[in-house]
Amino acid sequence: MKMIVAAAFAFVAVSAGALNLVPQPVSVKETGGELKFEGEIAKLAAYSVDSSIPKEGYRLSVTKDGVKVSSSDEAGRFYAEQTLAALVVTKEVPPTKKGEKKTVETSLPCVEIYDYPRYPWRGVHLDECRHFFGKETVKALLDLMAMHKLNRFHWHLTEDQGWRVDVPGYPELVKYGAVRSASVLHGKRASSGSKINADRLNGVKYGPYFYTEADLREIVDYAAKRHIQIVPEIELPGHVYAALAAYPEFACNPENLAERDPRLVWGIEKDVLCIGNDKAIKFMEDVLDWVCKVFPGDVVHIGGDECPNVRWKTCPKCQARIKAEGLGDEHGLQPWITRHFVKFLEARGKRAIGWDEYLLGDVPKSAIGMSWRERSASGAGHKLVSGAAAAERGHDVVMTPCSYCYLDYTQGLKEDPFFYIGGKVTLERCYSFDPCAGVPDGAKSHILGGQGNNWTEYTWNEYDLAWKLWPRMCALAEVFWLGEKKPGFDDFKRRIKAHRAKLVAAGVNCAPLE
Ligand code: ACM
Ligand code: ZN
Repeated sequence: MKMIVAAAFAFVAVSAGALNLVPQPVSVKETGGELKFEGEIAKLAAYSVDSSIPKEGYRLSVTKDGVKVSSSDEAGRFYAEQTLAALVVTKEVPPTKKGEKKTVETSLPCVEIYDYPRYPWRGVHLDECRHFFGKETVKALLDLMAMHKLNRFHWHLTEDQGWRVDVPGYPELVKYGAVRSASVLHGKRASSGSKINADRLNGVKYGPYFYTEADLREIVDYAAKRHIQIVPEIELPGHVYAALAAYPEFACNPENLAERDPRLVWGIEKDVLCIGNDKAIKFMEDVLDWVCKVFPGDVVHIGGDECPNVRWKTCPKCQARIKAEGLGDEHGLQPWITRHFVKFLEARGKRAIGWDEYLLGDVPKSAIGMSWRERSASGAGHKLVSGAAAAERGHDVVMTPCSYCYLDYTQGLKEDPFFYIGGKVTLERCYSFDPCAGVPDGAKSHILGGQGNNWTEYTWNEYDLAWKLWPRMCALAEVFWLGEKKPGFDDFKRRIKAHRAKLVAAGVNCAPLE
């Protein structure tokens, strides 16, 4: 995926005459004829502000005389430019006499487009902890997101298997948390609970891999230029094993972390943050305080999924907290810590978002849910607060159900060289996703949108990642942009063929359609 950075905005159109836009705009009228041009098309467009156009929307007119763009905000102007780039037709003109070189002609079809998004949250998630991809791959992904009018990059930066950010004042985080002594052998499964299947490990040190504050600021800036907000995720109170490897004293049972090695296999880890330890809570506060300063967006993800409470059951500090706060039993600890951090972030002008488990118990309505489970048996078996139920309770929700949005699930291709975590999410399945399905009319305004999730237990490099992302993310991008207005899979399939060819021509390791 590294190679597409520069090429991404200079597509060679493969089928003149058919627009083949992805996502399809809300309204497109081809008016006949073309506008020939030379140079950068965005610079030739006459721009005006029109406050009646919805947020991030735009009006675009291409006639033989020129290009006009209007929008009510900068994001709308930016998306008009993305559409213009996708409309460009490049034709090779053969030489007419000996010694003459062939030339290239660029033109735009004459069109009238009116366009705006259905959902404000159109996201892509990337887990950089199980495997690390680095700055260039992230920037290439941000370029492709912009092209598909996707505007939230959910960056999963901390996990059991790796801690990927260098937080001032906590040097052990990257010393111990950003490197692990081995990984699961490529193409093998080794995730049976906490048991380490030593014969399934590769024995190869992985890391240290992490981002410095300067790296993060560089990527924040790169994303902002593409109208993408980064949503950093710092997992708590579960999925913190790499942090505990760095600071074992923040676990209920520090002796379990004596090797100071992040978790080597995948799956659900029982050693989690000790909620009875004020120093462990202060550590997370310091991390989140720094995150709030580095990431200017208004939302911070605090994880919350798959947190077993077995260690809390027998931990004297956690039991003392339960008593002091009147929390009943260990089930009361996660809602208590969630309330704490929702308020902590609010005091810094941010809203918390978390996986659906964090909505269990009495959690402030300002907390945004990210709905990933469809059955309560998933994850650590916590009761299920469905996305619809959360929205009915008054929480804003981002819908990312695993059976539509998990791009680490098998694509169902005739041939596929890559290895997946399991499940099945075909291109058609992605396209059939409706973020508002099952949500009562009165609660639909709480559905902020959706997101494609890239968990990377079995995704090792940028080629593997690109293959799993594209073209399924193209389908999700159209769902998030058009919502109920999407024209249907047959129409999408016709357009995606040409669109995929453009992606491949630009160097993206895009999977085939079937
Ligand atoms: C998740 O897939 N555990 C959010
Ligand atoms: Zn404890």
